[in-house]
Amino acid sequence: MGQRAYTDVILILDFGSQYTQLIARRLREAGVYSEIHPYNFDPGRIFELAPKGVILSGGPASIYQEQAPDVRDEVLTAGYPVLGICYGMYLLAYHLGGSSARSKAREYGPATLVIDDASGLFEGLDGREQPVWMSHGDRVEAIPPALRAIAHTDNSPYAAVRSLDGRWWGVQFHPEVAHTAGGAKILRNFAYNICGETGDWKLKNFIERKVAEVRRRVGDDGRVLMGLSGGVDSAVAAALIGRAVGPRLRCVFVDTGLLRAGERERIERGFAARLGIELGVVDAAELFIRRLASVTDPEQKRRIIGHAFIEVFEREASRLDGVRFLGQGTLYPDVIESVPSKGPSATIKSHHNVGGLPERMQLELIEPLRELFKDEARQVGRELGLPDEIVDAEPFPGPGLAVRIVGEVTRERLALLRAADQIVMQEIRAAGLAGSLWQAFAVLLALKSVGVMGDERSYDSAIAIRAVHSLDGMTADWARLDPSLLGRLSTRITNEVAGVNRVVYDITSKPPATIEWE
Ligand code: XMP
Repeated sequence: MGQRAYTDVILILDFGSQYTQLIARRLREAGVYSEIHPYNFDPGRIFELAPKGVILSGGPASIYQEQAPDVRDEVLTAGYPVLGICYGMYLLAYHLGGSSARSKAREYGPATLVIDDASGLFEGLDGREQPVWMSHGDRVEAIPPALRAIAHTDNSPYAAVRSLDGRWWGVQFHPEVAHTAGGAKILRNFAYNICGETGDWKLKNFIERKVAEVRRRVGDDGRVLMGLSGGVDSAVAAALIGRAVGPRLRCVFVDTGLLRAGERERIERGFAARLGIELGVVDAAELFIRRLASVTDPEQKRRIIGHAFIEVFEREASRLDGVRFLGQGTLYPDVIESVPSKGPSATIKSHHNVGGLPERMQLELIEPLRELFKDEARQVGRELGLPDEIVDAEPFPGPGLAVRIVGEVTRERLALLRAADQIVMQEIRAAGLAGSLWQAFAVLLALKSVGVMGDERSYDSAIAIRAVHSLDGMTADWARLDPSLLGRLSTRITNEVAGVNRVVYDITSKPPATIEWE
Protein backbone atom coordinates (compact mmCIF):
# COMPACT_ATOMS: atom_id res chain seq x y z
CA MET A 1 0.00 0.00 0.00
CA GLY A 2 3.01 2.28 -0.11
CA GLN A 3 4.12 4.65 2.57
CA ARG A 4 1.59 5.67 5.16
CA ALA A 5 0.38 9.21 5.29
CA TYR A 6 1.10 9.36 9.06
CA THR A 7 3.57 7.87 11.45
CA ASP A 8 1.60 6.87 14.53
CA VAL A 9 -1.23 4.39 14.41
CA ILE A 10 -3.64 2.94 16.92
CA LEU A 11 -4.83 -0.52 15.92
CA ILE A 12 -8.49 -1.35 16.54
CA LEU A 13 -9.31 -5.05 16.57
CA ASP A 14 -12.95 -5.54 15.61
CA PHE A 15 -15.02 -8.09 17.48
CA GLY A 16 -18.16 -7.17 15.59
CA SER A 17 -19.56 -4.24 17.52
CA GLN A 18 -21.90 -1.94 15.66
CA TYR A 19 -19.84 0.91 17.12
CA THR A 20 -16.37 -0.11 15.93
CA GLN A 21 -16.20 2.51 13.20
CA LEU A 22 -17.07 5.16 15.74
CA ILE A 23 -13.91 4.35 17.71
CA ALA A 24 -11.85 5.16 14.60
CA ARG A 25 -13.95 8.22 14.07
CA ARG A 26 -13.39 9.62 17.57
CA LEU A 27 -9.64 9.02 17.31
CA ARG A 28 -9.53 10.74 13.93
CA GLU A 29 -11.29 13.76 15.42
CA ALA A 30 -8.52 13.86 18.00
CA GLY A 31 -5.89 13.93 15.24
CA VAL A 32 -4.97 10.27 15.70
CA TYR A 33 -4.76 7.83 12.82
CA SER A 34 -6.18 4.36 13.42
CA GLU A 35 -6.85 1.23 11.45
CA ILE A 36 -9.58 -1.32 12.01
CA HIS A 37 -8.76 -4.96 11.41
CA PRO A 38 -10.61 -8.18 12.22
CA TYR A 39 -10.08 -9.63 15.68
CA ASN A 40 -8.05 -12.52 14.24
CA PHE A 41 -5.65 -10.22 12.36
CA ASP A 42 -2.30 -11.93 11.99
CA PRO A 43 -0.02 -11.03 14.94
CA GLY A 44 2.92 -10.84 12.54
CA ARG A 45 1.17 -8.05 10.67
CA ILE A 46 0.34 -6.34 13.93
CA PHE A 47 4.00 -6.19 14.84
CA GLU A 48 4.81 -4.91 11.36
CA LEU A 49 2.27 -2.15 11.84
CA ALA A 50 4.04 -1.28 15.11
CA PRO A 51 0.97 0.38 16.65
CA LYS A 52 1.32 2.83 19.48
CA GLY A 53 -1.58 1.09 21.16
CA VAL A 54 -4.33 -1.45 20.57
CA ILE A 55 -8.07 -1.17 21.22
CA LEU A 56 -10.21 -4.29 21.46
CA SER A 57 -13.71 -3.34 20.34
CA GLY A 58 -16.98 -4.52 21.77
CA GLY A 59 -18.92 -7.31 20.13
CA PRO A 60 -22.19 -9.17 20.29
CA ALA A 61 -20.76 -12.51 21.49
CA SER A 62 -20.50 -13.79 25.03
CA ILE A 63 -17.04 -15.07 25.87
CA TYR A 64 -18.68 -18.23 27.18
CA GLN A 65 -20.18 -19.04 23.81
CA GLU A 66 -18.57 -21.75 21.81
CA GLN A 67 -16.26 -20.31 19.19
CA ALA A 68 -16.44 -16.87 20.77
CA PRO A 69 -13.98 -14.60 18.97
CA ASP A 70 -10.75 -14.55 20.92
CA VAL A 71 -7.43 -12.77 20.85
CA ARG A 72 -3.98 -14.31 21.03
CA ASP A 73 -1.96 -13.79 24.21
CA GLU A 74 0.96 -12.40 22.25
CA VAL A 75 -1.23 -9.56 20.97
CA LEU A 76 -1.92 -8.52 24.55
CA THR A 77 1.63 -8.79 25.83
CA ALA A 78 3.66 -7.10 23.10
CA GLY A 79 4.38 -4.07 25.24
CA TYR A 80 2.06 -1.40 23.80
CA PRO A 81 -0.94 -0.33 25.88
CA VAL A 82 -4.21 -2.20 25.29
CA LEU A 83 -7.69 -0.82 25.92
CA GLY A 84 -10.57 -3.29 25.97
CA ILE A 85 -14.05 -1.91 25.42
CA CYS A 86 -17.02 -3.97 26.67
CA TYR A 87 -16.45 -7.43 25.14
CA GLY A 88 -12.81 -6.38 24.67
CA MET A 89 -12.55 -5.76 28.39
CA TYR A 90 -13.97 -9.19 29.27
CA LEU A 91 -11.42 -10.76 26.97
CA LEU A 92 -8.62 -8.85 28.60
CA ALA A 93 -9.79 -9.80 32.09
CA TYR A 94 -10.28 -13.39 31.00
CA HIS A 95 -6.79 -13.68 29.53
CA LEU A 96 -5.31 -12.22 32.67
CA GLY A 97 -7.21 -14.73 34.80
CA GLY A 98 -10.43 -12.95 35.80
CA SER A 99 -13.97 -14.06 35.31
CA SER A 100 -17.13 -12.55 33.99
CA ALA A 101 -20.70 -13.73 34.00
CA ARG A 102 -23.95 -13.09 32.24
CA SER A 103 -25.68 -10.21 33.99
CA LYS A 104 -29.12 -10.99 35.30
CA ALA A 105 -30.53 -8.44 32.93
CA ARG A 106 -28.96 -7.05 29.83
CA GLU A 107 -27.79 -3.56 30.59
CA TYR A 108 -28.60 -1.34 27.68
CA GLY A 109 -28.73 2.41 27.68
CA PRO A 110 -27.56 5.25 29.89
CA ALA A 111 -25.85 4.67 33.23
CA THR A 112 -23.91 6.78 35.69
CA LEU A 113 -20.24 6.01 36.02
CA VAL A 114 -18.62 6.84 39.35
CA ILE A 115 -14.89 7.40 38.94
CA ASP A 116 -12.73 6.05 41.75
CA ASP A 117 -9.35 6.83 40.21
CA ALA A 118 -9.12 9.73 37.79
CA SER A 119 -5.52 9.26 36.71
CA GLY A 120 -4.90 7.97 33.20
CA LEU A 121 -8.10 7.36 31.24
CA PHE A 122 -10.32 9.74 33.17
CA GLU A 123 -7.95 12.66 33.52
CA GLY A 124 -9.50 16.05 32.98
CA LEU A 125 -13.11 14.84 33.02
CA ASP A 126 -15.58 17.20 34.56
CA GLY A 127 -16.79 15.71 37.84
CA ARG A 128 -16.60 12.31 39.49
CA GLU A 129 -19.92 11.14 38.07
CA GLN A 130 -20.18 10.73 34.32
CA PRO A 131 -23.06 9.73 32.04
CA VAL A 132 -22.03 6.68 30.02
CA TRP A 133 -23.65 4.34 27.50
CA MET A 134 -23.90 0.65 28.35
CA SER A 135 -24.70 -2.18 26.00
CA HIS A 136 -23.78 -5.58 27.31
CA GLY A 137 -25.04 -8.92 28.55
CA ASP A 138 -21.96 -10.08 30.49
CA ARG A 139 -20.19 -8.25 33.24
CA VAL A 140 -16.89 -8.77 34.97
CA GLU A 141 -17.47 -10.55 38.28
CA ALA A 142 -13.95 -10.94 39.56
CA ILE A 143 -10.81 -9.28 38.36
CA PRO A 144 -7.39 -10.88 38.20
CA PRO A 145 -4.58 -9.66 40.48
CA ALA A 146 -3.00 -7.72 37.61
CA LEU A 147 -6.00 -5.39 37.36
CA ARG A 148 -7.78 -3.05 39.71
CA ALA A 149 -11.06 -1.19 39.47
CA ILE A 150 -10.96 2.50 38.68
CA ALA A 151 -14.71 3.16 38.30
CA HIS A 152 -18.06 1.52 39.08
CA THR A 153 -21.77 1.86 38.36
CA ASP A 154 -24.76 0.66 40.36
CA ASN A 155 -24.76 -2.50 38.28
CA SER A 156 -21.08 -3.10 37.66
CA PRO A 157 -18.45 -3.11 40.39
CA TYR A 158 -15.78 -3.17 37.66
CA ALA A 159 -17.06 -0.65 35.13
CA ALA A 160 -13.47 0.36 34.37
CA VAL A 161 -10.16 -1.30 35.23
CA ARG A 162 -6.44 -0.76 34.76
CA SER A 163 -3.26 -2.63 35.45
CA LEU A 164 -0.82 -1.12 37.90
CA ASP A 165 1.84 -0.69 35.24
CA GLY A 166 -0.60 1.18 32.97
CA ARG A 167 -0.33 -1.33 30.15
CA TRP A 168 -3.87 -2.76 30.25
CA TRP A 169 -7.07 -0.76 30.47
CA GLY A 170 -10.69 -1.80 30.22
CA VAL A 171 -14.08 -0.08 30.19
CA GLN A 172 -17.40 -1.83 30.34
CA PHE A 173 -19.24 1.10 28.76
CA HIS A 174 -18.83 2.55 25.25
CA PRO A 175 -16.68 5.69 25.19
CA GLU A 176 -17.09 5.97 21.41
CA VAL A 177 -20.80 6.78 21.36
CA ALA A 178 -22.06 10.33 21.77
CA HIS A 179 -24.18 9.42 24.82
CA THR A 180 -20.97 8.94 26.80
CA ALA A 181 -20.34 12.63 27.34
CA GLY A 182 -16.67 12.32 28.25
CA GLY A 183 -16.03 9.51 25.75
CA ALA A 184 -14.02 11.50 23.24
CA LYS A 185 -11.81 12.74 26.08
CA ILE A 186 -11.35 9.19 27.38
CA LEU A 187 -10.19 7.92 23.99
CA ARG A 188 -7.98 10.96 23.58
CA ASN A 189 -6.43 10.28 27.00
CA PHE A 190 -5.75 6.70 25.96
CA ALA A 191 -4.12 7.74 22.69
CA TYR A 192 -2.07 10.71 23.88
CA ASN A 193 -1.33 10.17 27.57
CA ILE A 194 -1.21 6.41 27.69
CA CYS A 195 0.07 5.42 24.22
CA GLY A 196 2.15 8.53 23.59
CA GLU A 197 0.52 9.42 20.27
CA THR A 198 1.71 12.67 18.73
CA GLY A 199 -1.46 13.30 16.73
CA ASP A 200 0.01 13.62 13.26
CA TRP A 201 -3.27 12.92 11.45
CA LYS A 202 -4.03 16.12 9.57
CA LEU A 203 -5.83 16.44 6.28
CA LYS A 204 -3.17 18.74 4.85
CA ASN A 205 -0.45 16.15 5.47
CA PHE A 206 -2.81 13.54 4.19
CA ILE A 207 -3.24 15.28 0.83
CA GLU A 208 0.47 15.92 0.32
CA ARG A 209 1.43 12.37 1.14
CA LYS A 210 -1.38 10.81 -0.87
CA VAL A 211 -0.43 12.84 -3.93
CA ALA A 212 3.15 11.62 -3.54
CA GLU A 213 1.96 8.05 -3.07
CA VAL A 214 -0.24 8.11 -6.20
CA ARG A 215 2.62 9.63 -8.20
CA ARG A 216 4.98 6.91 -7.06
CA ARG A 217 2.55 4.10 -7.87
CA VAL A 218 1.54 5.38 -11.27
CA GLY A 219 5.12 6.13 -12.27
CA ASP A 220 6.29 8.46 -15.01
CA ASP A 221 4.15 7.16 -17.83
CA GLY A 222 1.28 5.20 -16.21
CA ARG A 223 -2.28 6.21 -17.07
CA VAL A 224 -5.34 6.19 -14.86
CA LEU A 225 -8.95 5.73 -15.94
CA MET A 226 -11.68 6.89 -13.66
CA GLY A 227 -15.45 7.03 -13.69
CA LEU A 228 -17.01 10.21 -12.35
CA SER A 229 -20.52 9.83 -10.99
CA GLY A 230 -21.13 13.51 -10.40
CA GLY A 231 -21.01 12.77 -6.67
CA VAL A 232 -18.58 13.96 -4.04
CA ASP A 233 -16.42 10.87 -3.56
CA SER A 234 -15.38 10.34 -7.15
CA ALA A 235 -14.95 14.09 -7.71
CA VAL A 236 -12.62 14.48 -4.74
CA ALA A 237 -10.67 11.32 -5.62
CA ALA A 238 -10.30 12.53 -9.21
CA ALA A 239 -9.09 15.95 -8.11
CA LEU A 240 -6.50 14.30 -5.90
CA ILE A 241 -5.32 11.84 -8.54
CA GLY A 242 -5.34 14.65 -11.10
CA ARG A 243 -3.08 16.70 -8.88
CA ALA A 244 -0.67 13.76 -8.81
CA VAL A 245 -0.58 12.71 -12.47
CA GLY A 246 -2.10 15.63 -14.43
CA PRO A 247 -3.31 14.84 -17.94
CA ARG A 248 -2.50 11.14 -17.54
CA LEU A 249 -5.79 10.86 -15.68
CA ARG A 250 -8.70 10.21 -18.02
CA CYS A 251 -12.17 10.66 -16.54
CA VAL A 252 -15.40 9.36 -17.96
CA PHE A 253 -18.93 10.28 -17.06
CA VAL A 254 -21.46 7.67 -18.10
CA ASP A 255 -24.91 8.97 -18.96
CA THR A 256 -26.92 5.90 -18.00
CA GLY A 257 -30.24 7.46 -18.90
CA LEU A 258 -31.03 6.98 -15.19
CA LEU A 259 -29.92 10.44 -14.07
CA ARG A 260 -31.87 13.21 -12.38
CA ALA A 261 -33.01 16.16 -14.46
CA GLY A 262 -30.16 18.49 -15.40
CA GLU A 263 -27.42 16.19 -14.13
CA ARG A 264 -25.70 15.53 -17.43
CA GLU A 265 -25.80 19.22 -18.28
CA ARG A 266 -24.29 20.10 -14.88
CA ILE A 267 -21.42 17.72 -15.54
CA GLU A 268 -20.86 18.91 -19.11
CA ARG A 269 -21.08 22.54 -18.12
CA GLY A 270 -17.74 22.81 -16.47
CA PHE A 271 -17.77 20.19 -13.70
CA ALA A 272 -14.51 18.82 -15.09
CA ALA A 273 -13.05 22.24 -15.69
CA ARG A 274 -13.64 23.01 -12.04
CA LEU A 275 -11.83 19.85 -11.04
CA GLY A 276 -9.04 20.73 -13.44
CA ILE A 277 -9.28 17.44 -15.34
CA GLU A 278 -10.23 16.19 -18.75
CA LEU A 279 -13.61 14.49 -19.00
CA GLY A 280 -15.32 12.43 -21.65
CA VAL A 281 -19.10 11.91 -21.56
CA VAL A 282 -20.34 8.56 -22.77
CA ASP A 283 -23.96 8.28 -23.81
CA ALA A 284 -25.02 4.77 -22.78
CA ALA A 285 -28.71 5.35 -22.01
CA GLU A 286 -29.82 3.01 -24.74
CA LEU A 287 -27.76 0.13 -23.34
CA PHE A 288 -28.88 0.57 -19.71
CA ILE A 289 -32.56 1.00 -20.49
CA ARG A 290 -32.59 -1.94 -22.90
CA ARG A 291 -30.99 -4.23 -20.33
CA LEU A 292 -33.48 -3.17 -17.68
CA ALA A 293 -36.54 -3.94 -19.80
CA SER A 294 -39.16 -5.92 -17.83
CA VAL A 295 -36.92 -6.29 -14.76
CA THR A 296 -38.65 -5.52 -11.47
CA ASP A 297 -36.46 -7.19 -8.84
CA PRO A 298 -34.32 -4.54 -7.09
CA GLU A 299 -31.20 -6.70 -6.74
CA GLN A 300 -31.41 -7.81 -10.34
CA LYS A 301 -31.65 -4.17 -11.40
CA ARG A 302 -28.48 -3.40 -9.44
CA ARG A 303 -26.63 -6.36 -10.96
CA ILE A 304 -27.64 -5.45 -14.50
CA ILE A 305 -26.56 -1.86 -13.99
CA GLY A 306 -23.23 -2.97 -12.49
CA HIS A 307 -22.56 -5.18 -15.50
CA ALA A 308 -23.53 -2.46 -17.96
CA PHE A 309 -21.06 -0.11 -16.23
CA ILE A 310 -18.37 -2.75 -16.67
CA GLU A 311 -19.10 -3.00 -20.37
CA VAL A 312 -18.92 0.73 -20.89
CA PHE A 313 -15.68 0.97 -18.96
CA GLU A 314 -14.09 -1.91 -20.83
CA ARG A 315 -14.89 -0.15 -24.06
CA GLU A 316 -13.38 3.09 -22.79
CA ALA A 317 -10.28 1.38 -21.46
CA SER A 318 -9.66 -0.38 -24.77
CA ARG A 319 -9.65 3.04 -26.46
CA LEU A 320 -7.05 4.30 -24.07
CA ASP A 321 -3.51 3.22 -24.72
CA GLY A 322 -1.61 1.77 -21.79
CA VAL A 323 -4.14 2.36 -19.04
CA ARG A 324 -3.04 0.30 -16.08
CA PHE A 325 -4.87 1.89 -13.17
CA LEU A 326 -8.46 2.49 -12.23
CA GLY A 327 -9.26 5.36 -9.88
CA GLN A 328 -12.16 4.98 -7.48
CA GLY A 329 -13.71 7.16 -4.82
CA THR A 330 -14.04 4.34 -2.30
CA LEU A 331 -14.44 5.56 1.28
CA TYR A 332 -13.58 3.87 4.54
CA PRO A 333 -17.08 2.61 5.41
CA ASP A 334 -17.12 0.87 2.00
CA VAL A 335 -14.01 -1.18 2.57
CA ILE A 336 -13.87 -1.82 6.24
CA GLU A 337 -13.41 -5.42 7.09
CA SER A 338 -16.09 -6.28 9.55
CA VAL A 339 -16.22 -9.61 11.18
CA PRO A 340 -19.22 -11.82 11.69
CA SER A 341 -19.20 -12.74 15.34
CA LYS A 342 -19.48 -16.47 14.74
CA GLY A 343 -16.83 -17.48 12.26
CA PRO A 344 -13.29 -16.45 11.57
CA SER A 345 -13.94 -15.56 7.93
CA ALA A 346 -13.77 -11.84 7.41
CA THR A 347 -16.31 -10.34 5.09
CA ILE A 348 -15.71 -7.09 3.32
CA LYS A 349 -18.70 -4.92 2.83
CA SER A 350 -18.47 -3.43 -0.59
CA HIS A 351 -20.69 -0.73 -2.01
CA HIS A 352 -18.75 -0.36 -5.24
CA ASN A 353 -20.92 0.21 -8.23
CA VAL A 354 -18.27 -1.23 -10.50
CA GLY A 355 -16.83 -3.82 -8.15
CA GLY A 356 -16.16 -6.51 -10.76
CA LEU A 357 -14.27 -4.13 -12.96
CA PRO A 358 -10.64 -4.32 -11.86
CA GLU A 359 -10.35 -8.12 -12.07
CA ARG A 360 -11.95 -8.32 -15.47
CA MET A 361 -9.88 -5.53 -16.91
CA GLN A 362 -6.75 -6.40 -14.96
CA LEU A 363 -6.44 -2.91 -13.66
CA GLU A 364 -4.81 -1.90 -10.42
CA LEU A 365 -7.08 0.08 -8.14
CA ILE A 366 -6.15 3.54 -6.93
CA GLU A 367 -8.39 4.52 -4.06
CA PRO A 368 -6.86 7.54 -2.37
CA LEU A 369 -9.83 8.14 -0.04
CA ARG A 370 -10.16 4.64 1.32
CA GLU A 371 -9.10 5.73 4.79
CA LEU A 372 -11.61 8.55 5.04
CA PHE A 373 -15.17 9.06 6.19
CA LYS A 374 -17.52 11.03 3.96
CA ASP A 375 -17.25 14.33 5.75
CA GLU A 376 -13.46 13.99 5.74
CA ALA A 377 -13.58 13.41 1.98
CA ARG A 378 -15.62 16.61 1.77
CA GLN A 379 -12.96 18.44 3.78
CA VAL A 380 -10.26 17.13 1.46
CA GLY A 381 -12.33 18.43 -1.46
CA ARG A 382 -12.51 21.87 0.13
CA GLU A 383 -8.80 21.79 0.86
CA LEU A 384 -8.20 20.97 -2.83
CA GLY A 385 -10.24 24.02 -3.79
CA LEU A 386 -13.36 22.31 -5.13
CA PRO A 387 -16.45 24.53 -5.15
CA ASP A 388 -19.22 24.03 -2.58
CA GLU A 389 -21.71 22.82 -5.17
CA ILE A 390 -19.48 19.80 -5.79
CA VAL A 391 -18.36 19.20 -2.23
CA ASP A 392 -21.84 19.55 -0.73
CA ALA A 393 -23.64 17.66 -3.49
CA GLU A 394 -26.49 15.43 -2.36
CA PRO A 395 -25.63 11.71 -2.42
CA PHE A 396 -27.04 9.89 -5.41
CA PRO A 397 -27.02 6.08 -5.78
CA GLY A 398 -24.92 4.56 -8.56
CA PRO A 399 -27.93 2.69 -10.00
CA GLY A 400 -29.65 6.05 -10.28
CA LEU A 401 -33.37 6.49 -10.82
CA ALA A 402 -33.72 2.77 -11.55
CA VAL A 403 -33.84 2.15 -7.79
CA ARG A 404 -36.35 4.98 -7.34
CA ILE A 405 -38.80 3.41 -9.75
CA VAL A 406 -40.62 0.58 -8.05
CA GLY A 407 -41.40 -1.93 -10.78
CA GLU A 408 -40.38 -1.74 -14.39
CA VAL A 409 -38.00 0.92 -15.68
CA THR A 410 -39.12 2.35 -19.01
CA ARG A 411 -38.35 5.60 -20.80
CA GLU A 412 -41.89 6.82 -20.06
CA ARG A 413 -41.73 6.02 -16.36
CA LEU A 414 -38.26 7.60 -16.19
CA ALA A 415 -39.57 10.79 -17.79
CA LEU A 416 -42.48 10.89 -15.37
CA LEU A 417 -40.26 10.38 -12.30
CA ARG A 418 -37.71 12.91 -13.57
CA ALA A 419 -40.39 15.58 -13.93
CA ALA A 420 -41.77 14.96 -10.43
CA ASP A 421 -38.26 14.79 -8.95
CA GLN A 422 -37.31 18.08 -10.58
CA ILE A 423 -40.20 19.77 -8.80
CA VAL A 424 -38.97 18.31 -5.50
CA MET A 425 -35.46 19.67 -6.17
CA GLN A 426 -36.80 23.12 -7.11
CA GLU A 427 -39.09 23.45 -4.09
CA ILE A 428 -36.53 22.14 -1.61
CA ARG A 429 -34.00 24.63 -2.96
CA ALA A 430 -36.53 27.48 -2.92
CA ALA A 431 -37.34 26.64 0.72
CA GLY A 432 -33.62 26.95 1.54
CA LEU A 433 -33.44 23.34 2.70
CA ALA A 434 -30.97 21.92 0.20
CA GLY A 435 -27.98 22.29 2.51
CA SER A 436 -29.63 20.92 5.64
CA LEU A 437 -31.21 17.72 4.30
CA TRP A 438 -29.17 14.61 3.57
CA GLN A 439 -31.38 13.83 0.58
CA ALA A 440 -34.76 14.83 -0.86
CA PHE A 441 -36.21 13.11 -3.91
CA ALA A 442 -39.23 11.56 -5.59
CA VAL A 443 -40.01 7.85 -5.98
CA LEU A 444 -42.37 6.42 -8.56
CA LEU A 445 -44.57 3.69 -7.10
CA ALA A 446 -45.80 0.57 -8.82
CA LEU A 447 -49.42 1.28 -8.23
CA LYS A 448 -52.23 3.23 -9.73
CA SER A 449 -55.13 4.71 -7.86
CA VAL A 450 -58.38 6.47 -8.62
CA GLY A 451 -58.64 10.24 -8.68
CA VAL A 452 -60.84 12.98 -9.96
CA MET A 453 -59.59 15.92 -11.99
CA GLY A 454 -62.09 18.47 -13.18
CA ASP A 455 -65.11 16.25 -13.64
CA GLU A 456 -63.06 13.39 -15.00
CA ARG A 457 -62.24 10.18 -13.24
CA SER A 458 -58.52 9.35 -13.42
CA TYR A 459 -56.62 6.16 -12.75
CA ASP A 460 -52.98 7.19 -12.52
CA SER A 461 -49.62 6.75 -10.82
CA ALA A 462 -48.58 7.73 -7.31
CA ILE A 463 -45.38 9.53 -6.36
CA ALA A 464 -43.78 9.20 -2.93
CA ILE A 465 -41.59 12.00 -1.62
CA ARG A 466 -38.61 11.06 0.51
CA ALA A 467 -36.69 13.64 2.54
CA VAL A 468 -34.29 12.61 5.29
CA HIS A 469 -31.76 13.91 7.76
CA SER A 470 -28.68 11.80 8.28
CA LEU A 471 -25.07 12.14 9.37
CA ASP A 472 -23.56 9.34 7.33
CA GLY A 473 -26.37 7.54 5.53
CA MET A 474 -26.11 4.59 7.94
CA THR A 475 -29.15 5.74 9.89
CA ALA A 476 -31.65 8.42 8.93
CA ASP A 477 -34.68 10.25 10.23
CA TRP A 478 -37.51 11.46 8.00
CA ALA A 479 -37.59 15.22 7.72
CA ARG A 480 -40.49 17.06 9.35
CA LEU A 481 -41.13 19.22 6.28
CA ASP A 482 -43.42 22.16 6.64
CA PRO A 483 -47.01 21.18 5.69
CA SER A 484 -47.25 24.15 3.33
CA LEU A 485 -44.15 22.92 1.48
CA LEU A 486 -45.65 19.44 1.28
CA GLY A 487 -48.87 20.97 -0.01
CA ARG A 488 -47.01 22.88 -2.70
CA LEU A 489 -45.18 19.73 -3.77
CA SER A 490 -48.43 17.81 -4.03
CA THR A 491 -50.23 20.53 -5.99
CA ARG A 492 -47.38 21.14 -8.38
CA ILE A 493 -46.68 17.46 -9.06
CA THR A 494 -50.31 16.54 -9.70
CA ASN A 495 -50.85 19.66 -11.83
CA GLU A 496 -47.65 19.61 -13.81
CA VAL A 497 -46.81 15.93 -14.25
CA ALA A 498 -49.24 14.17 -16.52
CA GLY A 499 -49.97 10.64 -15.31
CA VAL A 500 -49.72 11.40 -11.56
CA ASN A 501 -52.87 11.89 -9.49
CA ARG A 502 -51.59 11.13 -5.98
CA VAL A 503 -48.60 12.19 -3.86
CA VAL A 504 -47.65 10.61 -0.53
CA TYR A 505 -44.95 11.51 1.99
CA ASP A 506 -42.66 8.79 3.35
CA ILE A 507 -42.58 9.04 7.16
CA THR A 508 -40.26 6.11 7.85
CA SER A 509 -36.83 6.35 9.40
CA LYS A 510 -33.85 4.11 8.73
CA PRO A 511 -34.01 1.58 10.27
CA PRO A 512 -36.46 -0.02 9.65
CA ALA A 513 -36.69 1.38 6.09
CA THR A 514 -33.67 2.21 3.95
CA ILE A 515 -33.31 5.66 2.43
CA GLU A 516 -33.72 4.49 -1.14
CA TRP A 517 -36.78 2.38 -1.86
CA GLU A 518 -34.82 -0.37 -3.60
P1 XMP B 1 -29.88 3.13 1.75
O1 XMP B 1 -30.91 3.10 0.70
O2 XMP B 1 -29.10 1.85 1.84
O3 XMP B 1 -28.82 4.22 1.27
O4 XMP B 1 -30.39 3.57 3.08
C1 XMP B 1 -27.86 4.81 2.09
C2 XMP B 1 -27.16 5.90 1.29
O5 XMP B 1 -26.41 5.30 0.22
C3 XMP B 1 -26.90 5.73 -1.03
N1 XMP B 1 -26.90 4.55 -1.92
C4 XMP B 1 -25.95 4.27 -2.81
N2 XMP B 1 -24.84 4.94 -3.16
N3 XMP B 1 -24.33 3.27 -4.76
C5 XMP B 1 -24.04 4.44 -4.15
O6 XMP B 1 -23.02 5.05 -4.48
C6 XMP B 1 -25.42 2.53 -4.47
O7 XMP B 1 -25.67 1.49 -5.04
C7 XMP B 1 -26.27 3.07 -3.44
N4 XMP B 1 -27.44 2.63 -2.89
C8 XMP B 1 -27.79 3.55 -1.95
C9 XMP B 1 -28.27 6.29 -0.78
O8 XMP B 1 -28.62 7.27 -1.74
C10 XMP B 1 -28.14 6.84 0.61
O9 XMP B 1 -27.56 8.13 0.64
